[in-house]
Amino acid sequence: MSKQPIGIFDSGVGGTSIWKEIHALLPSENSIYLADSFNAPYGPKGKDAIIYLSIKNTEFLLEKDCKLIVVACNTATTNAISVLREKFNIPFIGIEPAIKPAALNTQTNAIGILATKGTLSSALFHNTSSLYANEITIIEQIGEGIVQLIENGNLESVEMERLLKSYLKPMLDANIDYLVLGCTHYPYLIPMLLKLLPKHVKIIDSGLAVAKQTKTVLEKYNLLNTEILNTNNEFYINLKNTAVMQSLLGNHRTKVNYLEF
Ligand code: DGL
Repeated sequence: MSKQPIGIFDSGVGGTSIWKEIHALLPSENSIYLADSFNAPYGPKGKDAIIYLSIKNTEFLLEKDCKLIVVACNTATTNAISVLREKFNIPFIGIEPAIKPAALNTQTNAIGILATKGTLSSALFHNTSSLYANEITIIEQIGEGIVQLIENGNLESVEMERLLKSYLKPMLDANIDYLVLGCTHYPYLIPMLLKLLPKHVKIIDSGLAVAKQTKTVLEKYNLLNTEILNTNNEFYINLKNTAVMQSLLGNHRTKVNYLEF
């Protein structure tokens, strides 16, 4: 049982940022990553469509015999994880914007959240943010267009810089000291964000927390892989262009497979 892979899915290539955190913390785990890039972005889609696609992704990973599934997508987590947990008898780990640590540590009483429309309009996000909304100012910003640029390989583009500057402006005007990245594509923006943000603004994402939670749940269910030789990490994407994902994986020179599903 423990040798079975961890399944990880995202609307596209961004969840590889989460795969890297999990792989760094749990190097002896086998894994299967699924990028539903053909249907990306999920952010502007309605809840029903996001649930439908999340079920399809889960079924793919279950066919590959995964022992646990990480929903490496804030949009899919905030819209679909409760349905997935009800429908499938397997542990799920989700990811949500890290509002809590930002809200507890802010000195300026203002934090910024950059996420997709689907995440920011979800009930799950709303419930969490309303816990803090009385004490601090939360500037929410939809990252319209960012996911598409990353999916198309335009991470470091003039257009990306233009979008980010316009999205950060209201946050900087409100004197934020924390920027929460609420989408798993966004950690890849950190080098550009560091250039655009004043030094005192801290950037936080939920990647490490998700990796730690994955470890905790594997331990709880006695599912950690104890056979550490020859681990296998497989990557699947439903677009013929595998180069973007390959380049985001960088040093992890694993082959990315094109698969229609
Ligand atoms: N990586 C997804 C997330 O964390 C991107 C959603 C999208 O495809 O719009 O929300």
